[in-house]
Amino acid sequence: MDFIDLKTQYSRIKPSVDARIARVLEHGAYVMGPEVTELEQVLATYCGTRHCISVASGTDALMIALMALDIGPGDEVITAPFTFFASAEAIALVGATPVFVDVDPRTYNLDPAQLEAAITPRTRAVMPVSLYGQCADFDAINAISCRHNLAVVEDAAQSFGATYKGRKSNALSLIGATSFFPSKPLGAYGDAGALFTDDDNLAKLMREIRLHGQDRRYHHPRLGLTGRLDSIQAAVLLAKMEIFDDEVAARIRLGARYSELLADAFAGSPTVIRAPYIEPFNTCVYAQYTIEVENREIFETRMKALGVPTAVHYPLPLHLQPVFEHLGLGEGRFPASEAAARRVISLPMHPYLTEVDQVKVVQAVKQAVG
Ligand SMILES: Cc1ncc(COP(=O)(O)O)c(C=O)c1O
Repeated sequence: MDFIDLKTQYSRIKPSVDARIARVLEHGAYVMGPEVTELEQVLATYCGTRHCISVASGTDALMIALMALDIGPGDEVITAPFTFFASAEAIALVGATPVFVDVDPRTYNLDPAQLEAAITPRTRAVMPVSLYGQCADFDAINAISCRHNLAVVEDAAQSFGATYKGRKSNALSLIGATSFFPSKPLGAYGDAGALFTDDDNLAKLMREIRLHGQDRRYHHPRLGLTGRLDSIQAAVLLAKMEIFDDEVAARIRLGARYSELLADAFAGSPTVIRAPYIEPFNTCVYAQYTIEVENREIFETRMKALGVPTAVHYPLPLHLQPVFEHLGLGEGRFPASEAAARRVISLPMHPYLTEVDQVKVVQAVKQAVG
């Protein structure tokens, strides 16, 4: 059993992927070719934003968003400590200081109730992460940020396709930044990402920054990156968008089924703590289906012995990463993030998980906690 199965997906879309890639090889515009423009239109329509700017990775998307907002040394950007490293890395790479606000222990997303206390005169932006495929509480975060004149950038690397109160992830704040890393809900066959906004001026700046800050050929009013998307990745993503609605529906169905099947394991066991909590106004795309257990190491070893792959997203919160030691935020500072980092473990999840395999995973979980 695979943790994520990309081969079955490829066999489903092979004719479209192969034909689209062959077209790129024939026309030869390997970077920013016609597929890139077409993809940006498809993605902007899907998310319901005026602009989509495709980029080379999710990390570039976050950095380009911050650069377009002119955020740099001396500025603070608020994010969650329980996320993939890139969220805070992007803040630090533009020279700003990451400031952490603990997560809501039910959703693992930035807790709006703790946001205001972290805002200082240096705060320029808030970057909530929509972790595991579920959006953060953007109405609450936008309202607080608006009062303090802060930009809100969604780190939507794990939530492309998710909805919050009927609106799509990436369209919930000033800028949405997503990743199309192969294992993401919408994944390329290499690194890729995208930015979304309704703001014409920011869109123009982000387009320039992804291309070395160039506003016209060989003319650079600002610094930028080699942040462009290549045409082959755009071709792959266009093929995957043809089946994406169907895949999202499968993810939602499989997530609900997992929680249903696991319910008695959670009720009966002293070691399993709980299944994912999804807010009633959210739909989750389950970039990860993540449960909490006590004694995670024993659980992991038993699952492995039973032939079920698992993964830990993420074992060390960002305020405890060696590179952020200088921030002076020791253990105990963000208890919800630290508790989650000790307990979370993700089960196999992808749109092609069969009912038989799902039952096998659940049986293994029940055995591993017993
Ligand atoms: C929450 C989060 N932010 C940012 C990123 C960075 O995306 P990429 O790997 O495409 O640079 C990831 C990717 O794993 C992520 O999960």
